[in-house]
Amino acid sequence: MTDVPAIIPAPQQCDLGEGRTRLDPEALRGLARELAPWAPRAARLASEIAPDTEPETAPDTAPGASSPAITARLDRALPAEGYSLDLSPESWTLTAADEPGAYWAVQTLRQVVARGSVPTLRLTDAPSHPIRGLMLDVARHFFGVADIERAIDLASRYKLNQVHLHLTDDQGWRLEIENRPLLTERASTNDVDGGAGGFLTLADYAHLQDYAEARHVVVVPEVDVPGHTHAAQVAHPEISPDGAAREPYAGIEVGFSSLHLTSEATWAWLEDVVGTLARHTRGPRIHLGGDEVLTLQRAEYHAFLERLGELVARHGKQLVLWQEAAEATLPAGTLLQYWTHEIDASALGEVARTRDVGFIASPAKHTYLDLKYDEGFPLGQTWAGTVEVRDAYDWEPVGALPGVPAESIHGVEACLWTETLRTWEDVATMLLPRLPAVASAAWGSPRDWEAFRSALQAHAHTWRAAGLPFYASPQIDW
Ligand code: ACM
Repeated sequence: MTDVPAIIPAPQQCDLGEGRTRLDPEALRGLARELAPWAPRAARLASEIAPDTEPETAPDTAPGASSPAITARLDRALPAEGYSLDLSPESWTLTAADEPGAYWAVQTLRQVVARGSVPTLRLTDAPSHPIRGLMLDVARHFFGVADIERAIDLASRYKLNQVHLHLTDDQGWRLEIENRPLLTERASTNDVDGGAGGFLTLADYAHLQDYAEARHVVVVPEVDVPGHTHAAQVAHPEISPDGAAREPYAGIEVGFSSLHLTSEATWAWLEDVVGTLARHTRGPRIHLGGDEVLTLQRAEYHAFLERLGELVARHGKQLVLWQEAAEATLPAGTLLQYWTHEIDASALGEVARTRDVGFIASPAKHTYLDLKYDEGFPLGQTWAGTVEVRDAYDWEPVGALPGVPAESIHGVEACLWTETLRTWEDVATMLLPRLPAVASAAWGSPRDWEAFRSALQAHAHTWRAAGLPFYASPQIDW
């Protein structure tokens, strides 16, 4: 019997040979040695693969006569982040375009050796989208370093290369800002339940970026302005339109708060906030929100974003904003994150064709993993419907964004808002098994629902072994 390997996201092309060979741990050590000089992170991952954590060994596994010959080499002619793997009882050959490609190759290997044996196969693979993300809202409920590390691990396992932290909202402010100690003293100690909240120090933030970088993941911080700013105004009344102090907010309404858009107090504050993000963020991008500004006129909102764009450009970062910002004049290279069909998106195609902006696809109906699996699910929301595993899997980024040409779609991001999520167990239950589904769309895998369903069964073994909660969706035969 030929056993189809459970690779998620599925590779672009995979040809299976006959049978499986019992995995020789020396092969993994040899691979780590070959990778170490040019892909140290991939080498470390290879050395961490435990060949015999799964007790069940395939019955037709043949013992390898001797350890396979190992080759791991760079081929810059391959597409970015691309790789190929050629595994047989006699030899293993890993070829990668770059360091991330080598890392994704080892993630693939890690998945195919999951039963203490290795299949004979030849595969070539590369992502369709350079940005593949997971957004985690740490503002509505605070999730600290250990939980964010777990989210980074899951992202990297499914070949996502960006973790976007939604760090501020009406309920809480979650990152230390230089010159503005009141933000974390007064605005971090609350959450949606009126709970204790919390925040990341800049040392925590540096640590998380180290952790992410070691897994080929970039951290994108988001401070949401000019709306979703109530918590900031608890600490700094002078940036409010009326200058009045605010009390902490523990509800889940949106759209009621705004900065004073033109005051010098606001722009001095923004200089400190954007400056801190720019100085302490190693990746190229910072996200500044721009969504749900229901109290503002378009002209004043656009004027604010134009000045904000200049501020970000002065600090040398690429700006990311939610889709509401599309019609403002923004710095070249700005990315717009599409999320809702509920606001008129008919102009987005024209914006994509006539401006130097790109798009990230986060259509709520497929990628908002805080939406309930079904109406009866105890966690999550339903404002854009429910998202079962197949909804997260069976969709194409081109087609989900009205009129936007394929070449303008730079990435796909899954979003996890945490109004109803309080613990890591809640987070994991919403991510699994849907994050691997969105990751398949983000990677641009050839979609095959039946193959994906059976691959998820194999992945569920590894989740159980790792103590990761997941939702046993009735769409999958667990
Ligand atoms: C959003 O969901 N308000 C971007």
